[in-house]
Amino acid sequence: MDYAVISKGFERVDASFVIIPVHASELRTASRGKRQASASKLKSSLTLHSFDPSIASAVLQSLADAKFKAKDLQTALIRYPRNGKLVPVLFVGWDKDSPETFTQYGRYRALGNLIAENAIRLGAGDALLSTHLLNLTDKDALVALVEGCELSQYRFDRYKTKSTNKDDEPTNLKKLSIYSSGAINTKTIESTRDVCSSTAMARDLINTPGADCSPHVIAETCKKVAREAGLKIDVFDKAKLSKMGAGGLLGVSQGSSFPPYLIRMTYKPKKKTSKVIAIIGKGITFDTGGLSIKSAGGMEGMKFDMSGAAAVIATMQAIAALKPKVEVRGYVATAENSISAAAMRPGDVLKAINGKTIEVLNTDAEGRLVLADALSLAEKDKCDVMIDLATLTGACVVALGGEYGGLFTNDTRLGEKLIAAGAKSGERYWAMPLAPEYREHIKSSIADIKNTGSAGQAGAISAAMFLKEFVSQTKWAHLDIAGPAGSDRDRGFIKKGGVGFGVRTLVRYIMEQ
Ligand code: BES
Ligand code: MN
Ligand code: ZN
Repeated sequence: MDYAVISKGFERVDASFVIIPVHASELRTASRGKRQASASKLKSSLTLHSFDPSIASAVLQSLADAKFKAKDLQTALIRYPRNGKLVPVLFVGWDKDSPETFTQYGRYRALGNLIAENAIRLGAGDALLSTHLLNLTDKDALVALVEGCELSQYRFDRYKTKSTNKDDEPTNLKKLSIYSSGAINTKTIESTRDVCSSTAMARDLINTPGADCSPHVIAETCKKVAREAGLKIDVFDKAKLSKMGAGGLLGVSQGSSFPPYLIRMTYKPKKKTSKVIAIIGKGITFDTGGLSIKSAGGMEGMKFDMSGAAAVIATMQAIAALKPKVEVRGYVATAENSISAAAMRPGDVLKAINGKTIEVLNTDAEGRLVLADALSLAEKDKCDVMIDLATLTGACVVALGGEYGGLFTNDTRLGEKLIAAGAKSGERYWAMPLAPEYREHIKSSIADIKNTGSAGQAGAISAAMFLKEFVSQTKWAHLDIAGPAGSDRDRGFIKKGGVGFGVRTLVRYIMEQ
């Protein structure tokens, strides 16, 4: 989608669709103006630029009929003539003093979504936005507006056949003209579009069924991204993993007809840097639970169990375009957790790359097993910060639902930075404890640790404690995104299905280094 910035002549700009944020006080003043039949007062108070005084009272009456009070994000769509054409105009209540319903810049993301949603509904290919109440010189506000607009238009139609009625096929918004007297940074718009198209790629991967998104497909996708973006890539296949002693990945994939992969993508900045950030994603392309099989209901959405990996791949792609000053390495641990006579058994003992032995008491706690290898390798490779993303535990969903990811860290500063980056990005995390007392929960009687916690107790924390065993020195944060990674319904710019959760947080965190 294209963006244009216009600073003069709002009245003369032709548009198929116009959006005007309005504050309640403007509406009140205008209504008083109407009673006094004072067209000039009406015009200046509502700041409607092109308001033809002769139709102003009709417009205000329509807004009143629609019970439009300009409450925060309340909308009313009415039509009136502009430049001799009847044009749909969306009035959006804009009250920056009302408590933020979502996150810091949530109102801007919501506005972006309203613009896109309504443009699609109206079949408008272009739209014009009045910004007299907005503050788009604030870079983060502009980012949020563009994100809302772009991400709202995401659709997953790979499996829809052509037989779908053509008339039902929505057309996307192609161009948004932003009317603003202040300077608007077009570079910011560009980079935000990059992040959004990468997020869409993550959503596509997550939404693709397990049959078509095997570990091999994940590896090929990484190769393609690396080739196109100019990243260095190393793909460790089953033979290499055996040599490396990646017992976690090998164990989990044992019952699947698909072999596992560990993938490492590297972005190096032009100027030499000493700082290296590693991002690590859980890439279980389908989680049946293995021999500790899931219930039918519990298995239903498990194609999304590679959401962490999708976020890492997408972030690496965006990073290659945005070119931060730090070195970034993306690790993807991918396998399918399935069942066959060869599947790993409860009771089996595996050994991860760092040499630690793991008693597998529940084959459904497989994410931590593949991450054990990925974290071990990332640390072996030496980096300053490690951040892993994983749809790791149902317990985290019980604790936080779909609104927050769980954040676990051995470095409070790092945790604070990630939470702050997330808040600005519209992705929220809640800090969870990693106290040494919880170590008790993963004690094994025959191996170094076991892969389950104590039944019914602190499942998200014992999983994080498990991961901690594979990090010795490095600053590390673990994001359990089991809740927010997928959405069971359309929620504004988040569409039903894969969310691409974590991409915006990671990109922002990395760019702020
Ligand atoms: N992929 C699941 C976690 C999950 C469950 C995400 C439900 C979203 C919704 C993970 O591999 C898993 O099965 N975890 C188990 C661990 C348990 C066996 C210790 C869980 O949370 O039940
Ligand atoms: Mn599982
Ligand atoms: Zn899983």
